[in-house]
Amino acid sequence: MLDLTERKRAEEALRKAQAELAHIARVMTMGELASSIAHEVSQPLAALVTNSNAGLRWLARDPPDLEEARECLRRIIRDGKRAGEVITRIRSLVKKSAPAKARLDLNEAVQEVLLITNAEVRRHRVFVRTELAAALPPVQGDRVQLQQVILDLVMNGIEAMREVTDRPRELLIRSRPEESSHVLVAVQDRGIGLDEQSLERVFEAFYTTKPEGMGMGLSISRSIIEAHGGRLWPVAHRDYGATFQFTLPTEGGSQQV
Ligand SMILES: Nc1ncnc2c1ncn2[C@@H]1O[C@H](COP(=O)(O)OP(=O)(O)O)[C@@H](O)[C@H]1O
Ligand SMILES: [Mg+2]
Repeated sequence: MLDLTERKRAEEALRKAQAELAHIARVMTMGELASSIAHEVSQPLAALVTNSNAGLRWLARDPPDLEEARECLRRIIRDGKRAGEVITRIRSLVKKSAPAKARLDLNEAVQEVLLITNAEVRRHRVFVRTELAAALPPVQGDRVQLQQVILDLVMNGIEAMREVTDRPRELLIRSRPEESSHVLVAVQDRGIGLDEQSLERVFEAFYTTKPEGMGMGLSISRSIIEAHGGRLWPVAHRDYGATFQFTLPTEGGSQQV
């Protein structure tokens, strides 16, 4: 009997973790979403240029063909409107994903992300260490969005250590309470690190140094953290690697500010 309940519980936990993984995977398709948006906008833009060129050619005729030129202008208006509609759709999409706030333990969020990244961690032979403050004050936040941020920082850290062979590939994840009712989460790696120039660029949308990268992770992560009233920033190390860390106001703490 005991064994059975025990097994049921384990299965339930696994199922929950898998559902969570699927959920995060859906959010992670932001990158794909971005490229399809780019595609949708670039089509009408290309048509705009084509029709403008055609219009100029009709006007350059002797005598100019005004009716054809007029038709080109109509198409230009139509494509301009189409590009505008795509932008409007994106806007409403972004609005809809306003964070759903609930009480959240960031230590738990970190642990769950580590469960999900377990396979990647092993595949890249990375040692993960955690220093999570006991009794960390809870924050108010959207669990999936904040886990997406942690996931991206962890994956970036792992990827930054891909080429490292002369030192241990160590990833350290810390959490601690900060002054004036904030908590801090830091993800520290011993990877290739950041120079002056990349320090400034990492948050730019589409900035990536990876062949298969989208360059959207950090810019999305920063906007998520800022929508939660927090701050996300990188720290370059003097020796090896980088730390990306964020602070969030604790539950109830934001009202006191
Ligand atoms: N921990 C890190 N160490 C070194 N460089 C990093 C780290 N995290 C991010 N970067 C740099 O910032 C870029 C943008 O990161 P991100 O927005 O997550 O997009 P992506 O991971 O798709 O490249 C990366 O391509 C990399 O050059
Ligand atoms: Mg990334």
